[in-house]
Amino acid sequence: MAKIVLTTHQKGGVGKSTLTFNLANNLKENAKVCIVDMDYQGSLLNIRELSEVPIFNADKFEEIKSEDYDFIFVDTPPYLTEQLEKLCTLADVIIIPTKAGILDLLAIKSTVDMVQRSGNEKKALIVFNMIKPNTSLTEEIKSKVQDFPVKVAKTMISDLVAFSRSVVVNGVEESQNAQKQIDNLSIEILTFSMQ
Ligand SMILES: Nc1ncnc2c1ncn2[C@@H]1O[C@H](COP(=O)(O)OP(=O)(O)OP(=O)(O)O)[C@@H](O)[C@H]1O
Ligand SMILES: [Mg+2]
Repeated sequence: MAKIVLTTHQKGGVGKSTLTFNLANNLKENAKVCIVDMDYQGSLLNIRELSEVPIFNADKFEEIKSEDYDFIFVDTPPYLTEQLEKLCTLADVIIIPTKAGILDLLAIKSTVDMVQRSGNEKKALIVFNMIKPNTSLTEEIKSKVQDFPVKVAKTMISDLVAFSRSVVVNGVEESQNAQKQIDNLSIEILTFSMQ
């Protein structure tokens, strides 16, 4: 059965689509992967023609689940729905990307609450994204993130042009730094999905 890797956060612009795309791309040589875009704005669907990883719309989800994919990466819209809560119950990993600001972290609460309602909070992983160069997480952020009943990924993803360009060049191979980060995050997520 395919492992389902869901990326969710009710806040817009935190990197859900970018991370989903890069994680799927990073595994495409070694596993059968696809992306399902549940966002009706269709961000990832818009680049379907350029993408080496197949990207499907939400209607295809049931069909795809019965095909022989190893991983189905699911990108979601920046708002919470009942359907999303149901998806959380099915997910093997729930990635919650966030920027490293206090307001950003406070904004995670309603997503975390939804994941908790689904009963699958053990599968959730907060991933810090768009970290500025040469900064580490402040003590305030570190303590705030401890308040949530979900794990935090060790790997942090930097704010790098390679990530913003990745959707048109199918990945971040051009940047060693970005590639290393996405490799580390992939390993963490794979390990997590097997627990
Ligand atoms: N690590 C990163 N480094 C640099 N730019 C990034 C990074 N992650 C995301 N971005 C950029 O930030 C913007 C928002 O990213 P993205 O569209 O992936 O967020 P989102 O959470 O899917 O947004 P929405 O909620 O609107 O769907 C994009 O312009 C993207 O290229
Ligand atoms: Mg998006």
